[in-house]
Amino acid sequence: MNPSRILLLFAHPALHKSVVNRHLIAAAESIAGVTVRHLYELYPDYLIDVKTEQELLVAHDVIILHHPFYWYSAPSLVKEWLDLVLEHGWAYGEGGTALRGKHLLQAVTCGGSAEVYCSSGRNLHTVREYLLPFEQSARLCGMTYLAPFIVHGTGNLKSAAEVAPHARDYVAVLEALRDGRIDLGNAATLSWLNENPGTLIETNALP
Ligand SMILES: Cc1cc2nc3c(=O)[nH]c(=O)nc-3n(C[C@H](O)[C@H](O)[C@H](O)COP(=O)(O)O)c2cc1C
Repeated sequence: MNPSRILLLFAHPALHKSVVNRHLIAAAESIAGVTVRHLYELYPDYLIDVKTEQELLVAHDVIILHHPFYWYSAPSLVKEWLDLVLEHGWAYGEGGTALRGKHLLQAVTCGGSAEVYCSSGRNLHTVREYLLPFEQSARLCGMTYLAPFIVHGTGNLKSAAEVAPHARDYVAVLEALRDGRIDLGNAATLSWLNENPGTLIETNALP
């Protein structure tokens, strides 16, 4: 895969209270070549600038929706963003080809552990299964949906030191996506991307 331009759309409605995402997003912001946008800072009144969002999407290859897992889904501004930005005739439907060939990755933090997000666990389904509307929306728009990057069990992460390994994995995934060092075929099939990042990422940098 060739090097990619990455657009990271971050949505956390109460970042001042965040324990986990504040570290993940700070780590992502330190990476060159990743455009980070804080949707709740940009659109506190939900008045999304559709044209600007669409221009940014066109200018990037990999789109990341990064948010905490709320009610088995995303915070509401993410839904508003999808509703307004992915217009008929632009993203899908007749003449709607703007996103074709791009990749979509969700980066999600969730309170529940991996053990409760499986067929024998309390939630009965994996987080990826709960995210199916996002996956199918990406498919409708001609995008490839990668397995989500998931930090499970956030209730057990109390300090920067405990979040640090997840932030390191996130940086490794973002840098590998940017540099074309990730096995995208494999990355689309996993339950979650960072279950074993070492098997996905080639360590050799591009020449
Ligand atoms: C409104 C709300 C809904 C939530 N819904 C879920 C949920 O459905 N499943 C889950 O595992 N965690 C859920 N959580 C826990 C959050 O995912 C968790 O607090 C968050 O990922 C931690 O990240 P942060 O420290 O950056 O806020 C919810 C939290 C809130 C505030």
